[in-house]
Amino acid sequence: MRIQGNTLNLTDPTKKHGGTVLETPQGGQEAWRSRGGGLNLPRGTRLFLTNRDVMSTVYLNGEYLPKERATISVDERGFLLSDGLYEVTPAYWGCLFRIERHMRRLQHGLDALRIEYDPAGLPEMHARLIAENALNAEDVAIVYLQITRGAAPRTHHFPPAGTPPTVYAFAQVYRRPEPARWERGFEAITVPDDRWARVDIKAIGLLPNVLAQQAAVDAGVEDALFVKDGVALEGSHNNVFAVFDGVVTTHPATRGILHGIAREYVIELAQAQGLPVEERPVPLEEMRGADEIFFTGTTTEVRPTVRLDGEPVGNGKVGPVAKALYQAFQAGTRPGVSVA
Ligand code: PDD
Repeated sequence: MRIQGNTLNLTDPTKKHGGTVLETPQGGQEAWRSRGGGLNLPRGTRLFLTNRDVMSTVYLNGEYLPKERATISVDERGFLLSDGLYEVTPAYWGCLFRIERHMRRLQHGLDALRIEYDPAGLPEMHARLIAENALNAEDVAIVYLQITRGAAPRTHHFPPAGTPPTVYAFAQVYRRPEPARWERGFEAITVPDDRWARVDIKAIGLLPNVLAQQAAVDAGVEDALFVKDGVALEGSHNNVFAVFDGVVTTHPATRGILHGIAREYVIELAQAQGLPVEERPVPLEEMRGADEIFFTGTTTEVRPTVRLDGEPVGNGKVGPVAKALYQAFQAGTRPGVSVA
C-alpha cells in the first residue's frame, strides 16, 4: 500500500487489471471506515482498487473481519474433501430476497449431508454483511455462504463428534448486463452431465460445473447446458426453461437439478401472467426446436439464449416471454414489492 498525494494505492499501480475507483470521495472514506480501516483520509482521496474486495469484510465462524485476515486450516474438510454446502442469496437495494427459501434449501442440504448446524442466525448475518460492505444502495448484491464439516485430520468418515462446522460468507456486488447487451441475447452450448446423482443438494464440489462453464468460456458463449440421457436438465450454474407455443416448460424439481429459487420465482411470474407452465423433462432434440430458451438463477436472473450449439433458437432473437419475465423479475425485486 502506498500513499501518493491524495491517492491511496492499495495495489501495485502497474497492475491495474480492471481497476476500480470508488466513485465518490466521501463514499470511499465511509466505505473504508465502515470496514474498520481506521484511516482518516483527506477529502478528495481516491481509492484505487485492483479488486473491490481487497477491502471487503467477510464472516468466518462468528467473526466479521477483513478478508485478508480470514484464514482457515489446511485440515479444513471443505478444502480436502469438498465436504460442505453453499448458498448464494441475492439482495436488491439491500433487501435480502426470499432468504427463507434459501435457508430452507440449505437445511435440506444440512440434513442430507448430516452436518449439525443451527442456521437461525444466518439471515441477520447476511444483512450485516450487506451493510458492512456498503452494498445497501446497490441494485443487486449477493451473499455467498459456505458451511463445511469443519477442520480435522483427514479421514473419509466424519470427524470426531463436536468438530465445529466452518461457516464462511462474503458479500459482493452483482452487475446486470447493460439492457442493450441483454436485448441482443446470449449463446449456450450443450455438455454431457457427468455430475453425481444428488445435484438437488447445493454441495461445494463443483468440478463438472467448473469444466462445463469453462467449455462455454472456451467456446465464447455465456452458458453451458447439461444434458443427461438425452434430456436437457439445467445450466452449469442456473436452471433452464424453454417455450413451446406459449407454454413455459422446465425440468421438474427432482434430484437431477438444483431447485433454483429464481426458477420457482419465474414459474410464479409466468403463472401470474396467465402463461401455462409445464414441469416435465425436455429432450434436447425437442429443446432445439423451442421458440425460446432462457436460463434463470440468482446470478443469471433471466438470460435468453438466442443460439444453442451455434444454431439459432426460434427466430434467433430474444423472445417475448423471456422479455416479459425479465421485466417482471426486476419489478418484483424492487423494494416495497412483496413477493416473498
Ligand atoms: N448457482 N442450477 C445450478 C447447478 C446452480 O448452481 C444454480 C445456482 C441454480 C439456480 O439456483 P438459484 O436460482 O437458487 O440461484 C441452478 C449459484 C448462483 C452459484 O453456483 O453461484
